[in-house]
Amino acid sequence: MLLGVLCILVVPRVFSEAPPAPPQDIQVDNWLLRWSPDPDDGDVTYTAQYSSFDSCVWTDVPYCVHISLNSCNVSSIKARSEYGCVMLRVQAERHGQNSPSVQACSKHGHLCTPDFSLTASPGSLTVHLSRNTTFLREHADHAKYRVYYGKKGEALQDYKDGPASVTIDELQEGQRYCTRVQYLYFKQTEGLPTCTQCELIPESDSRRTVTIVSLVLVGVLLLVFPVIAYFFLFQRERFKRWLQPRYTFREHLFEPIPEPFLPIHSSTEEHYDVITSMSPVELRE
Ligand SMILES: *[C@@H]1O[C@H](CO)[C@@H](O)[C@H](O)[C@H]1NC(C)=O
Ligand SMILES: *[C@@H]1O[C@H](CO)[C@@H](O)[C@H](O)[C@H]1NC(C)=O
Repeated sequence: MLLGVLCILVVPRVFSEAPPAPPQDIQVDNWLLRWSPDPDDGDVTYTAQYSSFDSCVWTDVPYCVHISLNSCNVSSIKARSEYGCVMLRVQAERHGQNSPSVQACSKHGHLCTPDFSLTASPGSLTVHLSRNTTFLREHADHAKYRVYYGKKGEALQDYKDGPASVTIDELQEGQRYCTRVQYLYFKQTEGLPTCTQCELIPESDSRRTVTIVSLVLVGVLLLVFPVIAYFFLFQRERFKRWLQPRYTFREHLFEPIPEPFLPIHSSTEEHYDVITSMSPVELRE
C-alpha cells in the first residue's frame, strides 16, 4: 500500500523531468562566448555549436562541449570563420535532456556583424549603419542590412531592410524600443546578429504638454474627490447647518410703513372681469 503511494508520487517525477531552462544573454566578445545560466538549475552543462557559411549543419565547438562554466573561448573556430561567417549557439543539458538552442549575438561589430548606433526622436528611431564595410564591399550589390525591431520585452519580429541607415517610423512615444541588426546576403541572413540595443522614444512637446496637464488634472481630482466624499458622507449634518441662511431680524422691518408710502388704489382706474359662472372645486379637478 505504502509502496504504491510512493510509486505514484515518485515515478512520474523521474520520467517527466523537464529539460533545463535554455541559457540567456549569449554574447561573443573577441572570441569569448558568455551566457547567463539559470541560477535555480543545478547539474546543468552547456555545449556551444557553430555553423559555417552556407551550411545548415551545427558542429560542436572544440573544448566547449558539456562544460559547467558559463563561458568558453571559441578562438579555435577563428580559422574557419576566415572563409565565411559563422553562427554560434549554446544549449543546456541535464540528465540527457537538452534545452532549446539559443543563438549568440556579437557585442561589437565584426567582419560578419554590423556595427550600429541609435538615435531616437519623437515617433521614430534611426539606426545608423555604414555603407562602407568589408562585408558590403565584398558582396557588392547583393548585401544589405536587416534591422529587427520591437517594443522592449517583446520578440523582435518586425524588420526593415536597407543598404545603409534605416529609420523606423510610427513608433509609440514614451515607449522603449529595441533593435538588432544582421547582414543580409541575397535573402539570407548572414553571420552573428548584433546584441540588442534599446532606446526610449521621446515624446513630442505637444504630447508632453497634454500628458502633464492630464496628470495634474488627475492629481487634483484625486485630492479633491476624497475631501468632497468625506464631507458628503460624514459631515452632512454640519454641512446643512452651514448652508442654512442666517436670519437677522432687524427692528425697522417691522415698523409700520408711514402713511404717504402706502399704495392708493382708486377703484376708477382699475378694470375688473365680471365673473359669470362658478363651479364647485371637486368638478374642476
Ligand atoms: C582564447 O584562446 C586563445 C588561444 O588558445 C588565446 O590566445 C586567447 O588569449 C584566449 N582568449 C581569452 C579571452 O581567454
Ligand atoms: C571605405 O572604407 C575603406 C576602409 O575602411 C577606405 O579605405 C575607403 O576609402 C572607404 N571608401 C569610401 C567611399 O568611403
